[in-house]
Amino acid sequence: MMKALVIYYSKTVRTRQMALEIDKYLKENNLDSKMISLYDVQPEDIIQAEIVLLGCWTSGLFFLLQHPDRTWKEYASKFPDLKGKKVGFFTTYLTLTGSMFRNMYKNLKDKLAEPVTLNLKSRNAKLSDDNKALIQSFISGEGATI
Ligand SMILES: Cc1cc2nc3c(=O)[nH]c(=O)nc-3n(C[C@H](O)[C@H](O)[C@H](O)COP(=O)(O)O)c2cc1C
Repeated sequence: MMKALVIYYSKTVRTRQMALEIDKYLKENNLDSKMISLYDVQPEDIIQAEIVLLGCWTSGLFFLLQHPDRTWKEYASKFPDLKGKKVGFFTTYLTLTGSMFRNMYKNLKDKLAEPVTLNLKSRNAKLSDDNKALIQSFISGEGATI
C-alpha cells in the first residue's frame, strides 16, 4: 500500500476539515494515509511517505497577493527533501486563491524535483467531484492539471 501523508495548517478549522476529507478519500482508494498537523509532523513521517499533500489556508488581501501564512513558510523551510515523492497542495479560501499555489511552490522549490501539479482548492472545505478526479489522476500517475 502506498503511504500518504496529509499535512495541514489551519487557522480556524476549514483547512483541517479539508485535510480530513482528503485523508478519508485516500483511504477509500486503498492508500495508507495519515493526516497530521504541520506542528506535529516529524521529518521521519515525511521521509517515509511516498505521497505528501500539503495544505494551508489562503492568506492575502482577499483580491490579491495570496500566500501561505508565515508559520507555514517557517515549517516548510525545515522539511526534508521531497524529491522522488508525489507532492500536492491544497487550500481553503473565501474569494480568490490567486498566487497561493505559486507561493507555496516557491517556498519548497529547492526541495522539489518538478512542479507541483496537484493544486486542490475548496471554499466550503468539502472535496468536490473535480477535486476527487484530480486526486485520482494524481495517484494513478497520469499527472493532474487544472
Ligand atoms: C488575515 C486573513 C487573510 C485572508 N486573505 C484571504 C485572501 O487573500 N483570499 C481568500 O480567498 N481568502 C482569504 N482569507 C480567508 C481564509 O483563507 C479562509 O477563511 C480559510 O478557509 C481559513 O482557513 P482555516 O479555517 O483553515 O484557517 C483570509 C483570512 C484571514 C484571516
